Order: sequence, then C-alpha cells, then structure tokens
Amino acid sequence: MPRERYLLNRDWHFHLGEVENAIKTDHGVIYSTAKAGACQGIPQADYDVSQWQKVDLPHDWSIHTPFDKENVADWGYKSRGKGWYRRSFLLPKEAKDKKLVLGFEGVSTRCIVYLNGTEIFHNTSGYTPFEMDITDIVYFENVPNTLAVFVDATIWEGWWYEGAGIYRSVWLEMMHPVHIDRDSVFLNPKEQEDGSFAVAIEAEIENATSEVQRGKLQCYLTSPNGQKELVWETEKQSFDPDQTKVTGSFLKKEPLLWDVKHPNVYEVEMILLLEGAKEEEIIDSVQTVCGFRTITFDAKKGFFLNHKPVKLFGTCNHQDFGGIGVAVPSNLWEYRIEKLKAMGSNAYRCAHGMPADELIEACDRMGMLVLDENRNFSTSVEAIGQLETLVKRHRNHPSVILYSIFNEEPLEGTLQGMRMAKKMRRTILRLDPGRFVTGAMHGGMLEEENAAIAIDVAGVNYQLPIYDAFHEKNPAMPMIATETTSTFSIRGCYEKDDSKNLLASYDDSPADWGNTVRDTWKAIMERDFVAGGFMWTGFDYLGEPTPHVWPSVSSFFGLLDLCGFEKDGFYLAKAIFEKEPVCHVLPHWNHKGKEGSPIRVMSHTNCEEAELFVNGESFGRKNVDLFKQCEWIVPYQPGQIRLDGYRDGKVVSSDIQMTTGECKDIRLSSWKKNILENGEYAAVIIIEAIDASGLVVPDCNLMTEITVEGGKLLGSCNGDPNCHEPFDGKVRSIFHGKCMAVVRPNRGVNELKVMVRAELTEQRNGLFSDVQDHCEKPIDSFLKKSLILPVVSAKEAKELSTVQEMALTHWKLSPVSEERPDVLQKTESFDMNSWQDIYVNKESGSPKVLENAKGKYVIYQQEVQIPKEINGHFPELYLYGIWGECEVYINEEKRTEFAYEWAVPHTIKLEPKDCKRTDIRILVKSINDFGAGLNSTVTLR
Ligand code: GAL
Repeated sequence: MPRERYLLNRDWHFHLGEVENAIKTDHGVIYSTAKAGACQGIPQADYDVSQWQKVDLPHDWSIHTPFDKENVADWGYKSRGKGWYRRSFLLPKEAKDKKLVLGFEGVSTRCIVYLNGTEIFHNTSGYTPFEMDITDIVYFENVPNTLAVFVDATIWEGWWYEGAGIYRSVWLEMMHPVHIDRDSVFLNPKEQEDGSFAVAIEAEIENATSEVQRGKLQCYLTSPNGQKELVWETEKQSFDPDQTKVTGSFLKKEPLLWDVKHPNVYEVEMILLLEGAKEEEIIDSVQTVCGFRTITFDAKKGFFLNHKPVKLFGTCNHQDFGGIGVAVPSNLWEYRIEKLKAMGSNAYRCAHGMPADELIEACDRMGMLVLDENRNFSTSVEAIGQLETLVKRHRNHPSVILYSIFNEEPLEGTLQGMRMAKKMRRTILRLDPGRFVTGAMHGGMLEEENAAIAIDVAGVNYQLPIYDAFHEKNPAMPMIATETTSTFSIRGCYEKDDSKNLLASYDDSPADWGNTVRDTWKAIMERDFVAGGFMWTGFDYLGEPTPHVWPSVSSFFGLLDLCGFEKDGFYLAKAIFEKEPVCHVLPHWNHKGKEGSPIRVMSHTNCEEAELFVNGESFGRKNVDLFKQCEWIVPYQPGQIRLDGYRDGKVVSSDIQMTTGECKDIRLSSWKKNILENGEYAAVIIIEAIDASGLVVPDCNLMTEITVEGGKLLGSCNGDPNCHEPFDGKVRSIFHGKCMAVVRPNRGVNELKVMVRAELTEQRNGLFSDVQDHCEKPIDSFLKKSLILPVVSAKEAKELSTVQEMALTHWKLSPVSEERPDVLQKTESFDMNSWQDIYVNKESGSPKVLENAKGKYVIYQQEVQIPKEINGHFPELYLYGIWGECEVYINEEKRTEFAYEWAVPHTIKLEPKDCKRTDIRILVKSINDFGAGLNSTVTLR
C-alpha cells in the first residue's frame, strides 16, 4: 500500500508563556532524567495540560493579543513571547511495519520538538518546513504518543509581523520501509529544437531495511484535460540498504504549454513497485507537478516566457492575511492571487521568506510567476539546509522562475557577500539547474566585488538611477527590480494629515527611498533590459507602519489594503499593466460641507485622452501621459464626476463617482458562491455599507457586530492601519464603507450563516461594549443582514485521533521476595539497580514476574502527575488486566485490596487530593503457579 498521510491539526493544547519546571536535583533524578525519553515536565505524558487552551492548527497566538503601545512597531504592536503546544496521537497496529515521518510546515520562530519525552528536533527558521523520522520512538495501538512543542517567538527573523506559534500544518506520513524520498522527485523539462520537451527525471529510493530489495519506478503524467499516461519506467533493479538515486528521461511531444494566461499544470505520480511475496506490489507513490515552458533572462531584452518577451509586473508580499495573521487557511492564497491577477499583475515575490506550498500551488494553477525567496543569507550548515528545502519543495512548480537568496544585506557589496552568494547559487543550481538566482541589492552594486555579479539576475531594490549605471558596467548581466515603489496610501483617504496618521491616495507620497507607482514604471518600461519589477507591496501587512508609528499598526504600502480591498493605486497599476482600456477616477464624491471648495480630481487610465465631467459639465479633455496621468481641480458640488477615456477619438471606457445617500443598509457578499468543507478552508465575507440605491457609502464607518452559525469567525478586519479593534472579536467597524470577515464552517454542516448587525449611529473603535445593552435598544436603530453560504462537503484530510486515556506504561518493579516486603520502602537515591524499569502495555504485555512463584511478592511503583480532567471528567485509575492478591497504595495510603486468580480489569477510584505528583504502589502476591501482576495497560481515564 502506498504511503498514507495524516494531519495532526486538531485538538492541541496550548499554553502561552514558559512553564516553570522545578525538579529535584538529587542523584536519582539527575541519573534518570539523563536518559532517552526522560525529558521532564511538559514532554511527559503525565504532565497535566487539561486546563490549557484547546486550539486547532494553523494557530498564530500573536494575532489574538491586544495591540500595545509598549510592543514593537515592526510586529504590529502585538505580543510574541514563548509558548508550549501539546497533543497526543494513537498509531494503528499496521504502523509498526512502516517508516514514520513527522512534519511541520511552519513554526514561528524557533522551536524544539519532543516526542514521548525525547527531544527530537530543533528548528531555527520560522519559514522553513522541517520533518523528522520518528519510527524508532513511537508507541502503537492503545499507548498514546505525546508530542510537545516549545516555541520561542521572542526571536525575530524579520522587521514585519511574523506571528507566533505552529502557524502551518503538522502531518505524519506512514510509508513502507522501502520508499521514495518525497522531495527527491524532480522533473526538469527542457525544450528541444522541434518543440518537444526532453524531461530529465530523478528520484531517490530509501531502503530502510537491512536487505537488498528489487523493484522498479514508474512515472505517470496526467495532462490538464485528464489524460493519464505512463511516461517513464525503469528496468527492475536492486536497491541497497540506504539511498539509491535513479535517473532517466522521457520525451514529451506537443505538451500544453504553461504560461500566465494558460496555466497548464501536469500532475505527476511517481510509483515504486517492489518484488515481494505478492509478485509486484505498489508500495509507494509520490505526487508532484510538472509544467512545460521555457524561461530566459536576457541582459538586453529582459524576461522571456516561451520565447515571448514578458515584462514582470510584480508585487512583493508578506504572508499575513487580514484579521487572521499568519495562520492562513490554505484556500485563501487563491483569494490573494485572484486579486493581484485582477490588477494585471503577473508576478509575485515571496518577501522575505519561504512561503506555504499552497501559495505556490495557487500560482501554478492561476498563472502567476513566482520569485521564491529564502530568508537567511548565510552559508552555515543550517542556512544551506533551509535553502535546499526551499528548492527541493518548489522546483517542480512551473510558476517558480527565480530564487532570491537575500534581501538588502549589509555584506552585499563585499567580497564576503559575493562568496556567500556564489556558494548559495551553486547549492541551488545543483538541485535545480532550470531556474535563475537573484538577490535584492540596496547598495554596493558598483563595487568591484559584490553579490550581484555572483548571481544570474542582478536584483535592484529602489535606486532607479542605478539601472543605467549598473547596466553600463555589466552589459551582459540581466537585471530585475526586485523591489520598488513603497508609496503610502489609505483606502478611501484623500487628505494627508500627519497629526492623525492619515495618508492620501494620489500616488504622491513615496517613502524617501521609494518612488511613486508612475515614476517606478516609467523607469522600468523605458528600459527593456530591466526584466520587470516588484512593487512594495501588493497587500498591506501588519507591522512596519512606516512612515508612522503608534497608533498606526499596519503598513500603508499596499495597492490593496489588509482585507484585499482595492486602493486607487490598484487601478493605476492596472492601467499601466493592462492593454485593455482601464479608466478610474478619484476621489470619491462624498464631501459634505465642502460645497464650492476645490477638490483635486485625478485619472488612472491607459486611454489616450481623458475628459472629466462634473454633473454633466466638461472640465476639459486632456492627453494622457500614462506615467503622469491627468488632474483637474474642480469646485465640489454633490452629484457625480465622470471620467471618459478615449482611444482614436472614441470613448472606450468610463468611470463614475457618485455622491451617495446616507447609509441605509448593509450588504453581505461572499468571495465564492459556496465553501468547500474539508476542515481546513475558510470563506471570505465582504460587508458593505450602502445607501438606498445600493451604492457603497465611501465615508461610512458604522460599527458592526458579526456572528456566525454553523462555523467559526476566525477574524475580521477593515483595512484601516490605525484601527485597534481586536481581530478575533465579534465587533468590527466598517471602514470607508467596507469590512471583511473570515469564517470557517464547522465539520458536517450544510450551510454557514453569517449575521451582521450595524448600529446606525456612526461610532468606531471599541463600541458594542455590551452587546446585551444593544439588544434592548429599539430594533430599528440597527441594520441587520444575514447571508447563507452553502457548504459543500469535500474530502477531508485524514487525522490521527487523540487519546481519551492516559497510559501509565513505565513502572519500577521490586525484586521478587519470599516474605511480604515493606510496600512503602524507599530505595536509596543512588541505587539504580535493585529495582527494574519495566514497560507495561497491552501489545507487549508485562514481564512475567511471578510465574512458578506461588506465595511470592513484588511491588509495582510509579510516580505520576494525576490531571484534574481527562476527556472532560475527573479521572479514575483503570487496570486493564491484573491478577493475584493485590493491595493498592496511593501516596502511602492504602486505598483498596482485591484478589483474582486470572487477569481481569479493575477500576480504582481517585480523589481530588490525588491531583498532584502521586506515588502509586501495587503490592502483588501470587496465588497460583501461573503468575500474577500487571499483564496489560494501566490508564488514567
Ligand atoms: C525595503 C525592505 C522591505 C520593506 C520596505 C519598505 O527596504 O526590503 O522589507 O521594509 O523597504 O519600504
């Protein structure tokens, strides 16, 4: 049977902060804790976590903390800190014959993973997935495995909001001991002169047995229209214990090419068949993807996709999502890519660290070129490992065209930086010779020794004037603007006011080091040798509220706000990126109280001429310079402004801004018409304040209350960088007419109901303090709306179940004695050998200690922390099988005695006073020659 993958995303216990672990330090403790499985405290199954918070993954604890002025601006004034996670899981009996791998897709920031009391992994980057072989230390069947993760998020890797905790999935894979190394599977299609593709193929087989195995590999390719074909098969061959690399190739004639408009992705399945008892058996299969396209960077002409020049119209983006932080449900990447594509963007830079695989998959499917980025510029063993993980994970994805190995590094203009860049490039090309390496330079590019000349494509951040100078000095070196623009704006804000941290949307406030959208693209579009650029940023993000600090908590750079709502810059970029006519006019036309005052009106259009009308009266038709745009100053009068865009003298596109009425209603809509329920996905609900004729009221800031039936409100957001409402509360103000909620359906429901109540008095920031209070107000002072979203059940990822009982498996056993021993006897703390350590559970049974020993005695002893609650109630001690004459002592107090001639179950009641470190002793006297004692699991349940 091929490998099976399970998620471990549900039912974790979480504790924010460190936990004191006061252990004694006598010889006995020191001796016994310096052993496998003996990490003290939380990693031990009997550490009581029953009172910890219950959470599901993905989980970002930072997003749930309050904004606090004392915190760091770069982290969005949220707290980070340290925390613990714990979860148990059971493995079926079949797992005994498998290799077992545990994987974490992302933990922010550093973490230590413990399994069954053993420290098994340290991870130091919050962006890199990591996995570990746990085959040797897991328990099976009824004995639970205890997984504990300590997360240290006091350490930071970036200057933006990075979240905190296990913010991506955790999984476990069970595979045959002879299997395919998942990330070793690599298909590298290369175009041939006749247009067909020769696909170099490689995979590594790991044989974790000690015998040579024989088998073969097969590779199936499924085309975008569903045709599956066997494209490659090896001869039968031997796989020695350890790792065997298999290489080969196949020819693909007339494949459907991948490009941004036709994102044709082929599915790949690599299968391992092994000669075995049952002839040939499929024992493993690994799925990946493949795309057929050519990419080149030309030093004079820029980037070519399938031999056609494509200017890279890109944005840089961090990974947090409005209202929910970095714990992003996997389907939401599609929401983001859809928005960027609607802007005409064709390229995405993963600033500044390895993104979730699901983002890359969305880019494959939707036709978005990716500049994939590594977090740490370093050639340390660990950093090279992170880089290798990035490349191995993403090298089969057709959307990925470039890897960036650094961003704005102080060593970029030095010999050291150059050497590091060379080594990192070599690391990448060894694993993936089909792509190009860049790095984002913010200086040092004209030095004799610098990192830019050690890579394939020189990446320039900002510094428009250096484009020509660098190109002149390095005419054979391709170049790309890895980061540009950094222009500030707030959605729907048209007056800059530094005293209120307000920034206007006229594309005229770039950072000191940045440029307007227009100047940026003028510089890039006028130079064929600049392959394209990535604007800072597509979406706003939490943290780095430049140019302000508190009370601003999120960035002002986005062309879309935190929610993904379009700012005016979105239309400006669209006008520049797209050939089809785009016509947008700003500002909105609600300026009550400013009647007669001059208002600055601006075009965002790619038409040849633009004409502005105010209430039907023309204010002049102007020639449009795409990189300047047109402006008019007009006296405000309510009504409407209209911009007509002309090509060849004819109106080809128009845009209108109307003065709206007051808010009379709220409108709810959903990003998608329904939501798939696979336990992981979320819906995006858009909430708008509208007037009587259905127009969004752009200056309306009503307070709302959002409730959900059949699901959970994961968070809400409104795109205001100065808003301090908690993301996870049910009150949320509409900001400039809109806000958004992210909702996850419960398992098994058919529909999800989102209900929104808005208070007609316009107040923001911290209202609805007492919801009850509002319920008593007359009903018509509220607007109420609900939306029902059909939930379509989808295949759920398999989950490993957690434990309902706590198994007590590790006992101390006294020597057998003829005489009744002192049950409460203490061994000396330096005596490690008189009593034995034994393991008691159902699958292995207990050592047979009193066979042929009628009338003899032993004592079983164990110290355990009895939790206050297991499975929702006060626990009892349950012996699955015990026999002989028995006396049970709890903390030196005799609790019960009983006698059985054959092993039977027995329950022992516990008392609240036992909920501490408890010494359990069972004295057993054999009453026949067959044996006596514990012969099966002991649990607290
Ligand atoms: C760049 C940096 C980005 C962001 C940006 C803001 O220098 O690479 O991460 O900080 O500035 O303009």
